[in-house]
Amino acid sequence: MSTVVIVGTQWGDEGKGKITDYLAREADFVVRYQGGSNAGHTVVVDGDEYRLHLIPSGILYEDKTCVIGNGVVVEPGVLCAELDYLHGKKRRIGSLRISDCAHLVMPYHRCLDEIAEESRGADKIGTTGRGIGPAYMDKAARVGLRVGDLLDPEGFRRQLQRNLERVNPLLQKMYNRPGFDPDELAAEYLGYAEQLRPYIADTSLVIDEAIRQGKNVLFEGAQGTLLDNDHGTYPFVTSSHPVAGGACIGAGVGPTKIDKVIGVAKAYTSRVGDGPFPTELFDDVGAWIREQGQEYGTTTGRPRRCGWLDAVILRYAARLSGLSGLAVTRLDTLSGLPTLKICTGYLYKGERLTEFPHRLEVLRECQPVYEEMPGWQEDISHLNSYEALPETAKRYLQRIVELVGVPIALISIGRERAQTIGLEDAF
Ligand code: IMP
Repeated sequence: MSTVVIVGTQWGDEGKGKITDYLAREADFVVRYQGGSNAGHTVVVDGDEYRLHLIPSGILYEDKTCVIGNGVVVEPGVLCAELDYLHGKKRRIGSLRISDCAHLVMPYHRCLDEIAEESRGADKIGTTGRGIGPAYMDKAARVGLRVGDLLDPEGFRRQLQRNLERVNPLLQKMYNRPGFDPDELAAEYLGYAEQLRPYIADTSLVIDEAIRQGKNVLFEGAQGTLLDNDHGTYPFVTSSHPVAGGACIGAGVGPTKIDKVIGVAKAYTSRVGDGPFPTELFDDVGAWIREQGQEYGTTTGRPRRCGWLDAVILRYAARLSGLSGLAVTRLDTLSGLPTLKICTGYLYKGERLTEFPHRLEVLRECQPVYEEMPGWQEDISHLNSYEALPETAKRYLQRIVELVGVPIALISIGRERAQTIGLEDAF
């Protein structure tokens, strides 16, 4: 039996979906534990591309159970559309369980997300606009509606009415926007309830039973370490906890039940949305990486900011999540660059920093200190072993291991499942 958490080590979009899909071959259960439809994972199977936002990547295996844990915020319209999309693809899929404790994203959350961004002006966070922050705000304020409430129409209508008595005046009087009609909203959401009813469960219990039976369970994080609400580049973060500890809360499992934590790291760094990014490249190399790696957001289509690999960030992620292994993705994207750079520390007002600073005004002033290494020119996307990689690629990977202090468990060299080199058994 084994339980593995997969976390993003950077600012999201590290390729967690692909790694989850790859490791899911050995898993019986795949569990999402935080975030919502702000996430987007693209999985390519047999040349077919699948884009998902809420349903775990493991759904593409018919013998797996996928779980949307209590820590996820669920927009039921998006979830129903994803189920229809998967059924429409005529591919046999796995089974799905949705936590009755997961909170619902309501249309007014999207509206409040948009208003909050507008009001921040130049300091905007660059959210995905999916209502994630306001949904988690309602959860923390203890006024949120949960998936389980969909099964109690009267209770659902009552709480919705109460919420709209608070939200509608705010929208109408303060922001000059239309309010929401409680009857219309209730009808829409209780309609989704009919489609979702068979999937709703006490998922903490489902996972506990699986672990007791010796099943392999994979916990799939969304976003990344530096978008963590506590540990990321606050306030340019999301409103949940992508770090490994988030899996315990967001899935309802105890920490002693987690065996391994795999941190997914791109072979370079990217970020969507605003906020500091010390190794960001504003030159032709940055643009080249973006085009080569097709670095455009799955959820919003925004071009991603690209830069060199930052080992300070990876060490920070290794500490926060207790990483036992790294999965290095997009190594193939770097093929063709004559020289590669790795950031090993920051210079701040003449002082060398080797740990990630929390204060944004410090981070903003940090100049990356780089180590240069020769690149490789060969196309590596068809290789199937570590030994077959060019010597310079091996040296690049070894240097990452030395700097981060975590072994590499997997290397991804393309979008297809088959373009993955496993260096150790994950389970
Ligand atoms: P929110 O999660 O929509 O509130 O957005 C907050 C920040 O997290 C913004 O910078 C987003 O661009 C970023 N973000 C949210 N989800 C993802 C993701 O799946 N990948 C990368 N960045 C994300």
